[in-house]
Amino acid sequence: MLKRCITISVMILVVAGLSFSQSIVGSAHDFSNENWNNTSEICVVCHTPHNADNTVSDAPLWNHEVTAATFTPYSSSSLNATVGQPDGSSKLCLSCHDGTVAVDNFGGRTNGNQFVSGSEKIGTDLSDDHPVSFTYDGALASADGGLYDPATTNSGLGGTIDNDMLIGSKMQCASCHDVHNGSGVGNLLVKSNSGSNLCLTCHQK
Ligand code: HEC
Ligand code: HEC
Ligand code: HEC
Ligand code: HEC
Repeated sequence: MLKRCITISVMILVVAGLSFSQSIVGSAHDFSNENWNNTSEICVVCHTPHNADNTVSDAPLWNHEVTAATFTPYSSSSLNATVGQPDGSSKLCLSCHDGTVAVDNFGGRTNGNQFVSGSEKIGTDLSDDHPVSFTYDGALASADGGLYDPATTNSGLGGTIDNDMLIGSKMQCASCHDVHNGSGVGNLLVKSNSGSNLCLTCHQK
């Protein structure tokens, strides 16, 4: 009986632990307890049900000030992709992570004073960061020679790389990260990078 109780409590702990960690609740993006957020809500810092900002195409009911910075994209002589200014959801991430827009500039507020800092600040110089905001398709994979075809290669997350990791066939910050901590893996990654598994999903090395 005692043994069974222990087994059940352990099971409850494991289940509770998993459901807690696979959620935005309590994650680095849960700002509901910050003293600068007087709504005590989680989603409101980034989303609103009404009067959303449509300036970034594909922005999901956006409620945060959008960055106006000009970025230096990644480049290299071996790169096959054409990489320009960040767009889509990457631009939304950079609307806090470039360090030019205050985290507490949401719901029309523009005088916030909370900025990302340290290693969380990606900055406006993206030349030292994995490239984002370009089309990754079979043609790029053939041109590169060291990439899997995203339309036919499994991501390990249920479907193909294109289904699960690309947004409109584009590589974005959200190809590697889940802003809502859906996987529960550290650094808000979409899957574990143990043994470089995340990298090896796309790169044939
Ligand atoms: C720190 C900013 C941030 C917070 C907080 C946040 N989101 Fe998001 N959300 C985003 C970004 C960026 C995207 C677009 C990128 C993506 O889908 O991965 C997005 C996309 C979405 C989408 C559309 C795509 C999808 O994943 O289904 C929904 C729905 C959504 N969020 C709901 C929520 C809800 C509900 C909450 C609160 C419980 C929330 N979000 C909190 C940033 C945030
Ligand atoms: C509203 C502002 C805001 C937006 C939008 C936002 N972030 Fe963040 N993010 C933050 C802050 C602030 C932190 C640091 C929280 C802390 O100090 O623990 C953070 C932390 C992180 C971390 C580190 C997580 C950890 O566990 O240490 C990652 C990775 C990250 N964000 C990625 C993203 C990506 C990718 C997007 C877009 C899909 C995004 N963020 C959108 C504000 C934002
Ligand atoms: C190719 C995959 C990939 C892409 C694309 C990517 N990241 Fe990351 N990111 C990672 C990995 C892996 C980590 C874990 C820490 C490390 O290895 O530096 C990380 C860590 C981070 C951190 C936490 C840094 C720290 O030390 O606390 C932030 C913030 C972050 N990424 C934001 C972004 C933003 C914003 C974008 C888009 C401009 C982006 N990432 C694009 C893979 C990626
Ligand atoms: C979702 C797919 C995907 C994931 C995951 C991914 N990459 Fe990439 N990566 C790409 C694509 C596509 C390119 C563009 C290649 C090109 O155009 O030649 C690229 C480019 C690069 C480049 C630059 C190549 C050059 O020629 O300059 C490096 C280095 C790289 N990735 C390393 C990594 C590492 C390390 C990880 C894991 C932390 C990672 N990638 C995860 C798809 C991915």
